[in-house]
Order: sequence, then C-alpha cells, then structure tokens
Amino acid sequence: MAAKVMSWLDERLGLTTIYNTVLDRKVPKVNWLFTLGSATAILFLLQAVTGTFLSVYYVPSPDHAYDSIQYIMTGVAYGWLIRGIHHWGATLMVITIFLHMLRTFYMAAYKYPREITWVTGVVLLLTTLGMGFTGYLLPWNQRSYWATTVGTEIPGTVPFIGPFITRLLRGGSDLSAVTLTRFFSLHIWFLPAMIILLIGVHLYLVIRIGISYAPQQDD
Ligand code: HEM
Repeated sequence: MAAKVMSWLDERLGLTTIYNTVLDRKVPKVNWLFTLGSATAILFLLQAVTGTFLSVYYVPSPDHAYDSIQYIMTGVAYGWLIRGIHHWGATLMVITIFLHMLRTFYMAAYKYPREITWVTGVVLLLTTLGMGFTGYLLPWNQRSYWATTVGTEIPGTVPFIGPFITRLLRGGSDLSAVTLTRFFSLHIWFLPAMIILLIGVHLYLVIRIGISYAPQQDD
C-alpha cells in the first residue's frame, strides 16, 4: 500500500529525481571538516525554531522587553531551556560559520567555478553577525543597552556617511523604543529572510557544481 502511494506521488512530483540530485549525489573523498556547512545550516534551523517559540512571549517594547524575558526564564514551562538553546545556538553558529569559511579558504574551494558560492557565503557571514548584533539588544538590560550604544557608535566614525549610519541604526540620535522595534524587525524578518534566500542559492550552487576535491600534494 505504502509503495503504491509512493509510486503514485513519485510519478507526479518526481521524488526519486529530487532524492538522487540532492541526497544521493557523488561526492569526492571528504573528511569531518566538510560537515561544517551542514552544521551551520542545522544550527540556523534550530535558531529559527527556538526563536519562533521565544516570540510567543517576548514583547519588543522598552516597558515590557526586560520583564517578558524574566517571565520566559521563570514562568514559562521550559522557557529557560528554549532561551538557553537560542543563546548558545547563536554562539555555536558563529563558530561553525567561521570554521566553515576557514575550511573553504584553506582548501581553496573559492576558486573557479565556485566564486559565487564564496560571495554568497561572505554575505551569509555578515548577515549572521547582523543577527547576533540585533538579537543582543532584545533583552533590553544594561549590558545590551550599552553594548548597542557602543556598537552603533562605531560606524559613526566612518568619514562623511558615519553619522547617517548611526542615526539610521538607532532611528534617532539616541537609543529608544524606535531602536528596539527596528532591531526586532531586522532580527525576526529582514535578516532571516535574507539568510534563507542566500542559503537557497548557496546550496543550489553546492549541488549544481559539486563539492571540490581537497587539494593534493604534488609528487
Ligand atoms: C549560514 C551560513 C552557511 C551555510 C548554511 C553554508 C552551507 C554550506 C554547505 C552545506 C556546503 C557543502 C559542503 C561543506 O559543508 O563544506 C557549503 C559549501 C561551501 N561554502 Fe558554505 N555555508 C555557509 C556560509 C559560508 C561562508 C561564510 C563561506 C565563505 C565566505 C562559504 C563558502 C562556501 C564554499 C566556497 C563552499 C564550496 C565548498 C566546496 O565545494 O568544497 N559558506 N556551504
């Protein structure tokens, strides 16, 4: 019965072709370092799931943000666990993305024909760091408030356009409710949407071009 259903679906959706192209493709002799990209992807999924749960109780307003986090930690069933996983997942994702970049750099995987894979990777790295920066403000405690004050001051030192960037990030001259709403929106809508799109292109290229061979020593 199950086989019949599968073959009915396969005929219409091309499941075998998708399976063969995505999961059963030929890869060269690889090692554990080649799993860092997938580890990053899995951590991103974990962040998406735990972040979605956090958004059920988190309130992005200066009056309620701090208290809503306290409530997640003490009042919500397993809230502390979900927040802890989101916190450590973010740290781990930054570590794995860096290691993945180092792996592709040292194995020269950025060369022809994988230049666009590399460029989408660079933007993914910047977007991931942006997720960390915008997420840091959300608890609205002393540490996150002052860290963001300093963090938004740094681009202000860029000649000519610096002060404009600082104002754009803060939504005014100082940190306020506007900054919190702006960072929240970036953190849950703009940046994740960019990451999903970029991972799509990145993985399409990995599948289309195939994994590179690890460089061999000349005899
Ligand atoms: C969210 C971030 C990222 C995800 C989910 C991701 C995912 C992946 C996956 C699953 C692969 C397949 C092979 C492997 O794991 O090594 C891959 C390959 C690759 N990635 Fe990423 N990646 C990300 C970020 C980056 C960054 C930051 C760079 C570099 C700046 C980069 C450059 C590359 C290159 C050049 C390849 C081709 C490797 C080869 O053919 O050997 N990626 N990526």
